[in-house]
Order: sequence, then structure tokens, then C-alpha cells
Amino acid sequence: MTRIAVLASGRGSNLQAIIDSIENGYLKAKICVVVSDIGDAYALERARKHGINSFHVDPKGFGSKDLYEEEILRILKNNNVQLILLAGYMKILGKTLLTAYKNRILNIHPALLPAFPGLHAQEQAFRYGVKVAGCTVHFVDEELDCGPIILQKCVEVKEDDTDQTLAERILEQEHKIYPEAVKLFVENKLRLEGRKVKIIK
Ligand code: GAR
Repeated sequence: MTRIAVLASGRGSNLQAIIDSIENGYLKAKICVVVSDIGDAYALERARKHGINSFHVDPKGFGSKDLYEEEILRILKNNNVQLILLAGYMKILGKTLLTAYKNRILNIHPALLPAFPGLHAQEQAFRYGVKVAGCTVHFVDEELDCGPIILQKCVEVKEDDTDQTLAERILEQEHKIYPEAVKLFVENKLRLEGRKVKIIK
């Protein structure tokens, strides 16, 4: 069974979606550890509630990103982690984790990449005036919100939407496609061909 670490900085609703998918049998995997850079992130609380090991690793306690990530890496290795999921993890990954887990780190982003990378993607899309928004699960590489795309889901923008209502509908889809993408990964159904991700049926 694939051993997963989830890195999260906030409320952890995507973490919850993965936990639920494992508990209801959809996903055959195990979350061994949840790590957060934020001490009072609700994601850590969710992990505790489900008996999952959780760690707050405070970046301020380290002299550099490398040292900070080496500490995270130590935790992941101790737990024999095979796959890292970023779930609202608001730090850009450095070379320590990227090298150790090359092609074994996934991220969920609340926009149809490559449109609207970075922070507050739903609001960026709403303000831009798009008619179709959505979310993306992708492999993580050196560039922000840029790695090969695994799954995307469209969400139509309604006339009476606010950035809030749009973000809520995007989030519902995030909670569906993230477990779906993780399932494809753990069932070894993803093949990377350059920038493209082939899904084996
Ligand atoms: C989610 O909408 C996720 O897509 C986004 O942060 C939110 C975290 O919510 N991630 C990014 O913007 C990454 N660039 P959650 O903590 O409830 O899962």
C-alpha cells in the first residue's frame, strides 16, 4: 500500500477528502504523516482526529530552506513515505524535497493551469472575467504550479457568482479530482512522457 505524506498550511479540506477516500475504501493507500509549516493549521487537527502522525515544522527555526526541508525529509524517511501530496501547502518546494521525491509529488491548484498560477487563483480568474474556471492536479517540478498535468475539472462561472461562491464550487471539484488523481498514481496508471501524462486504462 502506498505510503503518503500530506503537506498542508491551512484548513486542510483537501487533506480531509483524501482521508475520507481512504476510509471509505476508494483509495488503497495510507497517510503516514501530515506536516505543516503553520502551527495552528486546522489540517494538523484533522490529522490528529484520524490518528495520523502530525508535525509542525517551523521554517523560522532553520537557517535556510534546505535545512528546513532536510528536517521534513527526515520525517518522511522515518515514515517510509513514497508519495507526497501538497494540499494547500503555501511554500514553494526547494531542491531538497524535489530531488528526493522526483515525480512523486502531486499538487492541487484551484485554477485551470497554466492560467492563474500563484496565490488566490480563484479570485484572479473571477476578476479576469473568465466564463470557465476550474482546478488542476499536477506533478510538482521546480517551477511554481507548472509540472505535468494529471487531471483538470471545469467549473462554469455563473452570472451571479462572487469570487467566494465560485471558489466554493471549485473546491467541491478539488475534493473529487484530487482523490481520483491519487488513485491513478497509487494504481500505477500514470506514465510521464515529457510534459504529458498518459493515463493507462
Ligand atoms: C485549495 O483551494 C488549494 O487548491 C489551494 O489552497 C486551498 C487549500 O484548501 N492551493 C493553492 O492555491 C496552491 N497554489 P484546503 O486547506 O482546505 O485544502
